[in-house]
Amino acid sequence: MSKKQIIVALDYPEQAAALAMAERLDPNLCRVKVGKELFTRAGPGMVEKLHGMGFDVFLDLKYHDIPNTTAKAVRAAAELGVWMVDLHASGGRSMMETARNELEKVNGAETLLIAVTVLTSMERSDMVELGLDMEPLDQVKRLALLAESSGMDGVVCSAQEVKPLREIIQSDFKLVTPGIRPADADAGDQKRIMTPSQAITAGSSYLVIGRPITQADAPETALINIQQELAGLA
Ligand code: C5P
Repeated sequence: MSKKQIIVALDYPEQAAALAMAERLDPNLCRVKVGKELFTRAGPGMVEKLHGMGFDVFLDLKYHDIPNTTAKAVRAAAELGVWMVDLHASGGRSMMETARNELEKVNGAETLLIAVTVLTSMERSDMVELGLDMEPLDQVKRLALLAESSGMDGVVCSAQEVKPLREIIQSDFKLVTPGIRPADADAGDQKRIMTPSQAITAGSSYLVIGRPITQADAPETALINIQQELAGLA
């Protein structure tokens, strides 16, 4: 397995704490994720610093807007040189295809463009309130197929959704899964969790892991322990 299947979520309110954590991690062993809070405070300079340290960055800003606006934001992310960026599949085919086309225009951009299907915080009752009288998994499947046929490289989904999605999508379509907890870690506020090896065995491409690494007494050791757990699968 690839050593860099783990994406460490740098969920910090400001740059200094995020960089202090990054200093403790090995860019040869993991990638990092920068989300809305950190990016809103620290901006592109933070991403450039992480690149300077040798990290691949997943810019998790979940764009959702009219096609032109979303496409230009995706282009800006690609020009920043991020490894992966995401948008909401519910923005529809035109939004996703326009973003894909814009990304292709960035010379040498190898940025992966990933779609969020249904937020894992949503339950059936939340979907009903939106006028979608269906199980979240059915909407996840529908949006994953739409994302695939709209030129996306993959989707963000819960580890529980990986198996049913692998049955309907191409094998090289990336499945990026949060909600991962090593067997000995606290679940925290995550509900439907899987261990790293369960998620990879089910067919996850990349594991987004935050607190089990960042809140560990020794984050570098926590990361290596997860690597070793996954190496056991090979
Ligand atoms: O600390 P923890 O491992 O729970 O962090 C998971 C990360 O993945 C957080 O950055 C969280 O926002 C993100 N995420 C998630 N569930 C989703 C999408 C993203 O937990 N459905």
